Amino acid sequence: MTDLPHQPPDRLASDPLAAEPTTDPELPADAVESTAVDLPGAKPRAAAHHPTMQLQAEQVETLPDMDDRKAEHLRVSLDDRVQRPGRGNGLGAYQFDPLSLPELDLDQVDTSCVLLGKRLRAPILVGAMTGGTAEAGAVNRILAEAAERCGVGFCLGSQRPMLGLSGDAVRSFQMRDVAPTTLLLGNLGAIQVRDHCSGKDLERLAMAVGADGMFVHLNPLQEAIQPEGDRDWRGVFDALGEVAASCALPVLVKEVGAGLSAATLQRLRLLGIAGVETAGVGGTSWAFIEALRHRGRTPQAIAGEVLADFGTCTADSLVLARSAFANRVVIASGGLRDGLEVAKCIALGASACALAAPLLRAARHGVDAVAAGLAGIIETLRITMFLVGAPDILQLSRTPIVRVAPGHLG
Ligand SMILES: Cc1cc2nc3c(=O)[nH]c(=O)nc-3n(C[C@H](O)[C@H](O)[C@H](O)COP(=O)(O)O)c2cc1C
Repeated sequence: MTDLPHQPPDRLASDPLAAEPTTDPELPADAVESTAVDLPGAKPRAAAHHPTMQLQAEQVETLPDMDDRKAEHLRVSLDDRVQRPGRGNGLGAYQFDPLSLPELDLDQVDTSCVLLGKRLRAPILVGAMTGGTAEAGAVNRILAEAAERCGVGFCLGSQRPMLGLSGDAVRSFQMRDVAPTTLLLGNLGAIQVRDHCSGKDLERLAMAVGADGMFVHLNPLQEAIQPEGDRDWRGVFDALGEVAASCALPVLVKEVGAGLSAATLQRLRLLGIAGVETAGVGGTSWAFIEALRHRGRTPQAIAGEVLADFGTCTADSLVLARSAFANRVVIASGGLRDGLEVAKCIALGASACALAAPLLRAARHGVDAVAAGLAGIIETLRITMFLVGAPDILQLSRTPIVRVAPGHLG
């Protein structure tokens, strides 16, 4: 896969949301103090994005020793090396036909939409990321408050810690005081659903945080590379079917960065789920995050490096998801970084788009920084809509978009 024209290898460095390292007092030390470039032994950026880059034993060995997996995930996900712009999210292969006579008033262009019964100011969600510790709760509050201010949706990270019933863990997911009107979606891993949850349990997890629906995430690649990961995935499909049928709230299924493939989508469409989120290849690589968490060049760490881009890219996963789920919610995600990419996804069939890692980066600077990042994305979306003659999201979804280069499928 060649680098895409609008996604230079060093894209993250010029990403308007990729804020510089900070000592912002609003965020907990674990989430704030270090970035990739601060990690002892971290490689310079250009080398980090080289496709043949190998993990060096001394680098992984010098990663900070942290007991808490959540804190470690927050920290390692900020490492530039886990972003995968090299292969790309596939959207660079698509282009709009711009109009020089749009016949629209830019100020009248309406970016709002309705998703799962709630009106959003733009078809955007803060992707599922965290919760479970006081630090993670602080990050959630920043993200949730920014989502409320900007009128976009907000997704909690895995609520697995709530299965242990600790008060602190529960509080780190409770965001309704700062996000009373936001579309808020809960989250649990498919293995926890199989092992611990009925549809009613999933409903209770949602109710405890005031969620409007629940994501169940599929992450077999991440679990396979994770030092303490779940390796037995038998029975997951049947468990998903059971909870989808018995949970009163909408249940959606998502990947976490390897993308939902054609074969997976064909199976998922048989379930009574409300929709899917692609979380395709092209953004945060959980195989690579987990590889970085190994101490030394273990067999699993090597596999994580080799499989860092394994899966279905976001554009391909989106097109496949929309054809499999003609009338259900399809959320595009995985390496989405700007409003033009959001516009392309809507034209390719997305109901909405989720962004995770770039908003976590902005969150290191507090609510204003996240809100400013979201505002930039929404304004870019609005101007793109103006330039393609789409007065609203429905028209944007019907706007032709052409494939100008072969994607990962073709
Ligand atoms: C720090 C961090 C934690 C995440 N935790 C979860 C999680 O608990 N549950 C989940 O479904 N996805 C989780 N994700 C995956 C994201 O929701 C998203 O699918 C993925 O990162 C791709 O989007 P991105 O390229 O915009 O980061 C996490 C992502 C990040 C960066």
